[in-house]
Amino acid sequence: MNFSAKMLRDGALNDKVIVVTGGGSGLGKAMSTYFLELGAKVAITSRDIEKLKTTATELEAQTGGRCLPIACDVRHYDQVENMLKTVLETFGKVDVLLNNAAGNFISPTERLSSNAFDTIIDIVLKGSKNCTLAFGKHWIDKKEKNKVVLNITTTYAWTGSGYVVPSATAKAGVLAMTRSLAVEWAKYGIRTNAIAPGPFPTKGAWDRLLPGDLQEKFDLTKKIPLRRVGEHQELANLAAYLVSDFSAFVNGEVVTIDGGEWLQGAGEFNMLEQIPPEMWDLLEAHIKNKK
Ligand code: HXC
Ligand code: NAP
Repeated sequence: MNFSAKMLRDGALNDKVIVVTGGGSGLGKAMSTYFLELGAKVAITSRDIEKLKTTATELEAQTGGRCLPIACDVRHYDQVENMLKTVLETFGKVDVLLNNAAGNFISPTERLSSNAFDTIIDIVLKGSKNCTLAFGKHWIDKKEKNKVVLNITTTYAWTGSGYVVPSATAKAGVLAMTRSLAVEWAKYGIRTNAIAPGPFPTKGAWDRLLPGDLQEKFDLTKKIPLRRVGEHQELANLAAYLVSDFSAFVNGEVVTIDGGEWLQGAGEFNMLEQIPPEMWDLLEAHIKNKK
């Protein structure tokens, strides 16, 4: 099976203007690429303007689309307002905000300084809040409808996870914001949804979550019932659907795309997967003998 096949038809995002925070690398770049291929105009934002310019040039050459790089640290509301202003001056409107920018690293929580904890909360939760508030105010003020906020969260937003506690705390906040605004802002024609990805290897995440030889020590695919990690295009396909008009009745949803990973960790008896098939006759006999 080809996990990199592209899902939507050509032109499915024609006329859409999409802002992707953290769009210069990793999953943000993969989603931006596909949006451009589908006809959208895309603004990619992050702290590193040189990286963004390189990515924008590469993506325009690859897709023939229009990609605008804008420096914006999502932790600062004034920078977010300026970024929105630049998008509106360039494209005349904006239809989709994709809150993808994030910060994360593994650490025992007691080792963290107060500033280290704040840094993650500020990028992930405050950053998503800053962008959502600025874009939402604009759309509501202008009475523009058919707008979308798409948030990237993770599956540990609902289970929690040790060793990434600031990230888990912040992503849980993003999840609550997603579901809350889906109801409150629907009357303004704004849909709010989220994607909860499992492992999709990127340099940004793997350098910080699996440093040194951890990648060899922990085989992530063993944690996943489908026994593989995600392909970037699979996430891009889902994101493209959720920002398109095809998902016009989807609101307040958090779509998990993790090969069944979090459920494998959660199910009480899922460890019985390790029982060899030939042992089941014996186990069944043991159980029946107890009657
Ligand atoms: C302990 C650390 C640390 C570490 C930084 N700090 N790294 N503490 N262990 N490994 C502390 C610093 O000492 C400092 O505290 C504070 O955190 C801020 O660090 P800075 O380097 O000054 O911050 P900044 O330059 O803003 O960089 C932010 C960052 C960095 C988050 C620390 O890693 C970054 O730029 N990340 C962006 C990309 C990213 O993280 N991508 C991965 C997303 S993956 P003091 O007290 O010393 O000042 C993801 C996947 C989830 O979210 C799910 C996977 C399945
Ligand atoms: P990544 O490449 O490191 O992406 C994170 C992006 O956020 C970078 O482009 C970074 O750009 C930007 N960023 C960080 N701090 C910022 C700030 N203060 N202001 C603006 N932009 C900032 O990692 P990724 O794996 O693609 O992650 C993308 C998203 O997917 C994140 O929300 C992450 O939590 C989520 N996710 C990833 C996985 C996975 O397996 N990869 C799993 C679950 C969820 P600059 O450094 O240039 O600012």
